[in-house]
Amino acid sequence: MEMVILKPAVISLLSVLVLYISWSWRVNSHESFNQCLLNNSPPSHPIFQAIHTPQNSSYSSVLQSYIRNLRFNTSSTPKPVLIVAAMHESHVQAAIICAKKHNLQMKIRSGGHDYEGLSYVSNIPFFILDMFNLRSIDVDIESETAWVQAGAILGEVFYRIAEKSKTHGFPAGVCPTVGVGGHFSAGGYGNMMRKYGLSVDNIVDAKLVDVNGRILDRNSMGEDLFWAIRGGGASFGVVLAYKINIVPVPETVTVFKVEKTLEQDATDAVDKWQHVAHKLDDGLFIRLVLDVVNSSTRTGEKTVRATFIALFLGGSERLLTITDEGFPELGLTRSDCTELSWIDSVVYWGSFPAGTPASVLLDRTPLTLSSLKRKSDYVKEPIPREGLEGLWKKMIELERPYMNFNPYGGKMHEVSATESPFPHRAGNLWKIQYVTNWNEEGVDAANYYIDLTRQLYDYLTPFVSKNPRQSFLAYRDLDLGTNNHKFETGYSEGRAYGINYFLENFDRLVEIKTKVDPDNFFRNEQSIPVLPPLHDVE
Ligand SMILES: Cc1cc2nc3c(=O)[nH]c(=O)nc-3n(C[C@H](O)[C@H](O)[C@H](O)COP(=O)(O)OP(=O)(O)OC[C@H]3O[C@@H](n4cnc5c(N)ncnc54)[C@H](O)[C@@H]3O)c2cc1C
Ligand SMILES: *[C@@H]1O[C@H](CO)[C@@H](O)[C@H](O)[C@H]1NC(C)=O
Ligand SMILES: *[C@@H]1O[C@H](CO)[C@@H](O)[C@H](O)[C@H]1NC(C)=O
Ligand SMILES: *[C@@H]1O[C@H](CO)[C@@H](O)[C@H](O)[C@H]1NC(C)=O
Repeated sequence: MEMVILKPAVISLLSVLVLYISWSWRVNSHESFNQCLLNNSPPSHPIFQAIHTPQNSSYSSVLQSYIRNLRFNTSSTPKPVLIVAAMHESHVQAAIICAKKHNLQMKIRSGGHDYEGLSYVSNIPFFILDMFNLRSIDVDIESETAWVQAGAILGEVFYRIAEKSKTHGFPAGVCPTVGVGGHFSAGGYGNMMRKYGLSVDNIVDAKLVDVNGRILDRNSMGEDLFWAIRGGGASFGVVLAYKINIVPVPETVTVFKVEKTLEQDATDAVDKWQHVAHKLDDGLFIRLVLDVVNSSTRTGEKTVRATFIALFLGGSERLLTITDEGFPELGLTRSDCTELSWIDSVVYWGSFPAGTPASVLLDRTPLTLSSLKRKSDYVKEPIPREGLEGLWKKMIELERPYMNFNPYGGKMHEVSATESPFPHRAGNLWKIQYVTNWNEEGVDAANYYIDLTRQLYDYLTPFVSKNPRQSFLAYRDLDLGTNNHKFETGYSEGRAYGINYFLENFDRLVEIKTKVDPDNFFRNEQSIPVLPPLHDVE
């Protein structure tokens, strides 16, 4: 028997051939996805201007423009094969149809604030459907409603409402650059939630592109799917726009910020806050921020600072009677209070310097950007004083991570847990957001700060909700679990994180998902799983 011996020249020829084939396959598959997009957009709205490939000089700037966590702005972060920055609804339809045809993972991005970068990063080949061009806002004061497109940012929504009426507003998040698309589909927490609930509690209609590329509204999608897209996340379709009810606000509102360190009896004030913040007048929202600072009295030592930052829907006189009676430990005085219009209170909460005109809310670039990690928890009983003392020690040890406590009560206790997919209602006293920001680059720094955040979260375990430990979808946290790397979500993997986010609403979301997207096209690392077809069940 003769051995076949390949000469070196043949080997190199072969490998060149293999390289050529894989290269041309890749180029052709891009070209054909690209070509598919071109073929599927109407001549009246050509799509070519909306497509940014790595060959276009615009590619990097479009990609980076909406990266809001610098942890995912590195050279090793996986990049999309292209970006479709839709300029017309038909471009969204084309993106879905072609992504399905070419089996290419689609990531949907509106404002890019996903804490784990899920809207613009993936471990498998993917493209981004970017919504920032679709951002019209149409406010109708007479009917007290507005249509807002997914690519609008919250600041624009607030500004456009205030432009038409000084006595209307909308309950949504306090960071003006957050996108409507991701925010309204995940809940929408803000400083009017005690009075008016979440953003999702004030949504009355929507426009959605489904897996077949059809544009649906509330009437044509039906109440199940309409329920799911008010808090159930990105698993059901691409939201084009939401119709919201705008809410009345007084012409004058009041804001304040009071700080106390441990040396200034912060523990007494925090202890009392835990017992009263959820019971005070619904128009008063007092967020508590706990962080670690240098002690001003003991050089070289650290202390915990409690910052009480508030919005009151009314004037300072009435506010002072409420705090004097219900929360004297705060020590609020008239000079702590600033009376202003509601839109100026949005600017204040956005941390802009005093006197900044409200038009700053139209600015799509955030004040600061950094690398970050977030986690969340819900608290059902006040933390005992000894617990607080221990927490101070732990915080000083870890130093960097800090916490926002957002009080419940009012509307948050009135809306039932099944009214929308967001289940964290009655029975909760406040939500914790764990916050860690850093500016150092690299994986080591990221791992270090992420670990600190997890340590603080672990420390709080005895004091927060359990079985399951509740989490807020909009504070995306991949520590809770992910489905397998190809996103072929199994029910059990999906349940692991789905239960934390949705509690008893998870199964209804799975049912709706299975009905509207049985092939699991709209998927990401933490999407809602589909049930296997009945004949597959053993
Ligand atoms: C600085 C900062 C401040 C924040 N402040 C608040 C706050 O005050 N209150 C609060 O509740 N949350 C807050 N968040 C969290 C924020 O609500 C969520 O990250 C939200 O999902 C962001 O929406 P987005 O459109 O900007 O994000 P994106 O990253 O674009 O999207 C987030 C998720 O939604 C999906 N998605 C986006 N657009 C669509 C669409 N049109 N159709 C279907 N799916 C879509 C994405 O695929 C992704 O999974 C904050 C986040 C940051 C970074
Ligand atoms: C990207 O490059 C292609 C080919 O040169 C061009 O036709 C297209 O208009 C460019 N797209 C953008 C958004 O500039
Ligand atoms: C993101 O990374 C790019 C490329 O390194 C850099 O030019 C850009 O400034 C970064 N963005 C921010 C906001 O730091
Ligand atoms: C806190 O003190 C340290 C030294 O102990 C110093 O390096 C740091 O700059 C101080 N921070 C602030 C905000 O003053």
